[in-house]
Amino acid sequence: MSKARLALAGGGPLVVLTGAGMSAESGVPTFREAQTGLWERYDPTALATPEAWRRDRDSVWAWYRWREHLIASAEPNAGHRAVARAASDREVVVVTQNVDDLHERAGSTEVHHVHGSLFAHRCDECGAGIEVPPPPAEPVARLAPPGCPRCDGRARPGVVWFGEMLPSRPWDAAVSAVSAASAVLVVGTSGLVHPAASLPGIAADGGIPVIEVNPGPSAFAREVTVHLRATAGQALPALLAP
Ligand code: OAD
Repeated sequence: MSKARLALAGGGPLVVLTGAGMSAESGVPTFREAQTGLWERYDPTALATPEAWRRDRDSVWAWYRWREHLIASAEPNAGHRAVARAASDREVVVVTQNVDDLHERAGSTEVHHVHGSLFAHRCDECGAGIEVPPPPAEPVARLAPPGCPRCDGRARPGVVWFGEMLPSRPWDAAVSAVSAASAVLVVGTSGLVHPAASLPGIAADGGIPVIEVNPGPSAFAREVTVHLRATAGQALPALLAP
């Protein structure tokens, strides 16, 4: 812990790059962990690709609406709150792969969602934002997505699917923030999904310290200066305390 605190010291701009492990202690399942990971229980090719959407929109829409309901019922954990609090002492930019809103609900104001947001529904044809009714409180197998008021399209989840480009605005903001950071804190990501997983490498190549909080292994062995084997909720309050 003291080595990690030292690497974070100095008060310069901090980038916190988060993945699904950040929200695990809020009860939101991760993707790749044995037994509990979403991709262990559901087939991503049937739910998280443009082809799946074209093939069976009602199943895909029902699954994402169920995840929205689960996240709306979850609360930010001690890790999210510690990241939000740290912004009272220094500039903190959160770059998250998570499609939940738990960083924002904990009080973080600069949050870039490089994989989109579950709550930013948009038209699958014209791309305009679409307001949708609250999600059902029980999981349903199929649900028809509402139509777009402007064209013949349908509301789709505002998340990035496999095979899609990342939205350029959050991605460009993430690259600039990492390049200008005095330290990068990587929390709860396996580091397997690119291009998000290339961000710690950009920092390391620029001589910026990379501190990792993850109770398990990740793909960042080369990039990481200090690895804290602890959960976000355990480690971040002490690590980011003034
Ligand atoms: P993964 O499920 O691949 O990895 C989760 C990581 O969190 C693992 O390395 C765990 O060891 C770690 N972890 C588990 N519990 C933790 C805790 N309490 N505190 C800290 N770390 C913990 O999730 P991601 O790396 O986020 O893409 O996955 C990347 C992308 O793959 C996701 O954004 C999603 C998915 O397909 C899209 O939705 C586009």
